[in-house]
Amino acid sequence: MSARYTGEPLLEVSDLHVSFSTYGGHVQAVRGASFTLNQGETLAIVGESGSGKSVTARSIMKLLPKDTAKITSGSIKYKNQELIHHSEKQMRKIRGSELTMIFQDAMTALNPTINIGEQLMEGIRHHQKLSRSDARKKAIQMLKLIGMKDPEVRLKQHLHEFSGGMRQRVMIAIAAIGNPSILIADEPTTALDVTIQAQILDLFKMLQQEIGVSIIIITHDLGVVANLAKRVCVMYAGKIVESGTVRDIFYDPKHPYTEGLLASMPRIDGDKGSPLTSIPGTPPDLFAPPEGCAFAVRCPHAMEVCRSYEPPNVQVGGFDSHYAACWLNDERAKSVLRQKENSHRKELEPVVM
Ligand SMILES: Nc1ncnc2c1ncn2[C@@H]1O[C@H](COP(=O)(O)OP(=O)(O)OP(=O)(O)O)[C@@H](O)[C@H]1O
Ligand code: SF4
Ligand SMILES: [Mg+2]
Repeated sequence: MSARYTGEPLLEVSDLHVSFSTYGGHVQAVRGASFTLNQGETLAIVGESGSGKSVTARSIMKLLPKDTAKITSGSIKYKNQELIHHSEKQMRKIRGSELTMIFQDAMTALNPTINIGEQLMEGIRHHQKLSRSDARKKAIQMLKLIGMKDPEVRLKQHLHEFSGGMRQRVMIAIAAIGNPSILIADEPTTALDVTIQAQILDLFKMLQQEIGVSIIIITHDLGVVANLAKRVCVMYAGKIVESGTVRDIFYDPKHPYTEGLLASMPRIDGDKGSPLTSIPGTPPDLFAPPEGCAFAVRCPHAMEVCRSYEPPNVQVGGFDSHYAACWLNDERAKSVLRQKENSHRKELEPVVM
């Protein structure tokens, strides 16, 4: 069984850079992403389409397309082992058993011609060297755990015999059956209706309690984040631009992009009067990313410095948990802003004769 929540770092991604070579040039898909996953916690990675969430996840698994993708620099440490230097043979030992992933295109990851039982048993027979009958017992246990009725019958069925929600449960069962330390779930609820989504989120919570797995959940949906995660990384144009606890991010965001994401989220607490706003503009071209802050062209607060210099990722707020990469949090930029504000105020002050 994996360890329960201890707060100790289990996975440390530092300054990760990943690029793809294409006919049009090099796409800089991940441009210096850094974050930590602690033992037993659920970390969410959120951001718009194309921000580099899936490429980051696939880099951790070392499942990037071999002919076009390259991790150009950075470090991915799992239990203090550097995965960047791991050979494919070393990765095969931990992939599926210690590190496992539910892919964004999950349905294509399952084999429609092989029954569910075989697909569940395949990984554990290989990694745990179990006999066929022990693997079968474990597969039945797992299907029971994820709330499937008649598991003995279900084992013999094929993908087309399951509903969308049930297929997603099977995907989760396949990912979790080997008692992994880390489960990465890439958009696991996107295609599902709201009721099924809630059931799948409950299933992740239950799995975390039962097997103590640490989870990285990748999503566009801030509702999913609020429901499931303890900490959040906000990703934009290949970087983590803000990270903190769910409370930090939802109630005290320190990056204008995070504020934009929150403003575009439907409110459950029912302030129906406030309209939803999507963030104007589009993300930058990752073939030629801008020199300064990648959000500058869309940011309502952009200053001169933003266009020329990348903002440093600094601690914001009183706790060690909250970081943001925005010049607005830098004392030097703040003092320039204060000067501007004061001179503006002076201009507006009535002249007393
Ligand atoms: N195989 C590939 N070849 C070339 N570019 C790619 C490839 N895979 C991803 N990219 C590019 O890398 C960037 C990041 O893609 P990624 O799939 O990680 O985004 P994402 O944040 O997961 O988006 P979504 O929310 O739509 O899933 C995008 O600009 C994408 O076009
Ligand atoms: S650094 Fe500047 S452009 Fe970037 S988010 Fe902050 S204020 Fe906006
Ligand atoms: Mg993706």
